[in-house]
Amino acid sequence: MIRLNLGTTIGLGVAVLAGLGVALTTFERPRPLAVQQGFRGTGMDQLYNPRLFDAVAAANVVPTPLPAAPATGPRAGQVYRNVQVLGHLSVGELARTMVAMTAWVAPQQGCNYCHVGANFADDSLYTKVVSRRMLQMVMHINSEQQAHVGATGVTCYTCHRGQPVPANTWSENPGPMRAAGFSASNAGQNLADPVVGGTSLPFDPFSAFLNTAPADIRVQGQAPLAGGNSHSIKQTEWTYGLMMHFSQALGVNCTFCHNSRSFSSWEESNPRRGIAWHGIRMVRDLNVNYVGPLQSVIPAAHRGPGGDALKVNCTTCHQGAYRPLLGASMLQDYPQLARPGP
Ligand code: HEC
Ligand code: HEC
Ligand code: HEC
Ligand code: HEC
Repeated sequence: MIRLNLGTTIGLGVAVLAGLGVALTTFERPRPLAVQQGFRGTGMDQLYNPRLFDAVAAANVVPTPLPAAPATGPRAGQVYRNVQVLGHLSVGELARTMVAMTAWVAPQQGCNYCHVGANFADDSLYTKVVSRRMLQMVMHINSEQQAHVGATGVTCYTCHRGQPVPANTWSENPGPMRAAGFSASNAGQNLADPVVGGTSLPFDPFSAFLNTAPADIRVQGQAPLAGGNSHSIKQTEWTYGLMMHFSQALGVNCTFCHNSRSFSSWEESNPRRGIAWHGIRMVRDLNVNYVGPLQSVIPAAHRGPGGDALKVNCTTCHQGAYRPLLGASMLQDYPQLARPGP
């Protein structure tokens, strides 16, 4: 038989309470900062952990810009034999753009990542053919997609960060092979995939929403009764899968864009939800018109398991930051990439 005197009992009680207190208050260190994003009292706050945010800041340092090149003198198109996109630049600006592209995409490999020896006009490496299309894509984003990227814009570095293949891409994902019969289909879910924050939500929302023939993201009915809304709970799960991706890509909560009182209401949403709306359209445009068609040029080893090109989602540019590179504009130092030539 165990005997406890009064002192021991009180002591034990205090220890248990203290333990509980520690467990309940110190799950995160240091205490997260709450930043108000919407009207007072709507709970539209962002929680930032200063320690984790330091890591995001360290990963988003912009490389020092190269010294500007003179814009005067003969055009690159007059001097060189095979410049189809950059022909309107001066010879100096072309050289500077080449040095910058090398640092942004292939710093280990150098000029020969895209060029064969000293014959710079030669197009036999696929990397050069892809890069020409990427140049057109960057100019298109900066001139035609300002509803999303504003004047901040993008360069190759926004996605590539010094690597030939960007670290964050997606490709079609049919999931693992499954037995036939009653369990033949898992409806694209229940795999605890990191893409959707380790939840059981559908693990390939990208093929459904960010590629050709995109499905409806909005699923909520606008009338009190079912009315004409035929969206199912299953479809709603796909929308939630995509929304998990948005939050992860930007390193934010749902309330960065929504008032969780009514996810569908635009009046109660943050203006950032409108910027995201344009971002969704931009990503579809990039995948359908630029990156997807490169499937025929890019070698199989650099494509997805299903053979499609690796494509763009929100993480490709944002990489965990609410704005890519925390809002710094590299385009200001490389205005040659702001729009296509005349
Ligand atoms: C990531 C790929 C890539 C890298 C790395 C690269 N280039 Fe280029 N280069 C291109 C592309 C694409 C073109 C064609 C641009 C166009 O069609 O407007 C080109 C064109 C050129 C041309 C014009 C050749 C001609 O006669 O038509 C020169 C010169 C050139 N590059 C020099 C360089 C130098 C020097 C380096 C290294 C400092 C370099 N490039 C690194 C992709 C690259
Ligand atoms: C919006 C994001 C984005 C931007 C901006 C971007 N790229 Fe890419 N790039 C991609 C994606 C995604 C792939 C992967 C395609 C694949 O491998 O299937 C890729 C692939 C490439 C490849 C082929 C890599 C390989 O070995 O398979 C080259 C070369 C390249 N990009 C050069 C450039 C250059 C040069 C620029 C700037 C003019 C640029 N990219 C800007 C997204 C981007
Ligand atoms: C970066 C902004 C952003 C974030 C973060 C975000 N959403 Fe969304 N959400 C949108 C946009 C934009 C739409 C509308 C898309 C469209 O119409 O193409 C939307 C649509 C929705 C819808 C469908 C509403 C309807 O009318 O049927 C739901 C539900 C939703 N979001 C839930 C969430 C949840 C839950 C989270 C957090 C896990 C989240 N969202 C995070 C931007 C965001
Ligand atoms: C091609 C690169 C690129 C891609 C891909 C991209 N974004 Fe952005 N996004 C940007 C840039 C650049 C800005 C900063 C714009 C500015 O400074 O005005 C931005 C800003 C935003 C903002 C506004 C943030 C703020 O604080 O004002 C939201 C919200 C956003 N993006 C959501 C998304 C979502 C959701 C996706 C995927 C559907 C996406 N983005 C894909 C480049 C991109």
